[in-house]
Amino acid sequence: KKIIFPELFFTDKNLVGRDVCKISRNLSDLKGIFADVEAFEKMPQDKLAYEVSSFLPEKEGTPGGLYFGITYLYPGKVGNEYMMTKGHYHASIDRAEFYWGLEGEGMLILMDEQRNVWAERVFPGSLHYIPGGVAHRMANVGSSLFSFAACWPSDAGHNYAEIAEKGFSARLIEVNGIPHLI
Ligand code: 6PG
Ligand code: NI
Repeated sequence: KKIIFPELFFTDKNLVGRDVCKISRNLSDLKGIFADVEAFEKMPQDKLAYEVSSFLPEKEGTPGGLYFGITYLYPGKVGNEYMMTKGHYHASIDRAEFYWGLEGEGMLILMDEQRNVWAERVFPGSLHYIPGGVAHRMANVGSSLFSFAACWPSDAGHNYAEIAEKGFSARLIEVNGIPHLI
């Protein structure tokens, strides 16, 4: 069962009645991120990969504001690579972010500007600080829904192009049932 989005509870009149914004990405939105192109193309392209529900109280780009979101990442693999988010640097590259695990099992894959990659195990209750300058991508390494919450600055933005062009310099692959960063 999906972790429900927190109740929006505000005394600030400007925020009362604001909606949660929902986006979803299916496999076709993830074209090019997985190593096994043949396995990817055999899969149904309209398969839902993940959904993001966000509360964005400030206008995009507002300095000093914060955003909150929950990502629901479905289980699966493309070849032996775990289902994962597109991943990004922030457009304002020095902006940091918190991630924390809600349900299921994940791995947070991180890459600095020198393209050094490392990973952190994500589980219900784990907290992860992503410093500025560090690209971030989540993988679902379990067999059930993996969800995590995030908090990031409203002037962070997303730089997807860098990852789309060059990828991460390591991949999270299942070897004998265990995730390996290769
Ligand atoms: C952000 C967060 C987070 C992220 C989602 C989906 O900066 O907005 O890192 O909300 O966007 O988990 O991941 P992708 O944006 O990489 O598709
Ligand atoms: Ni981010």
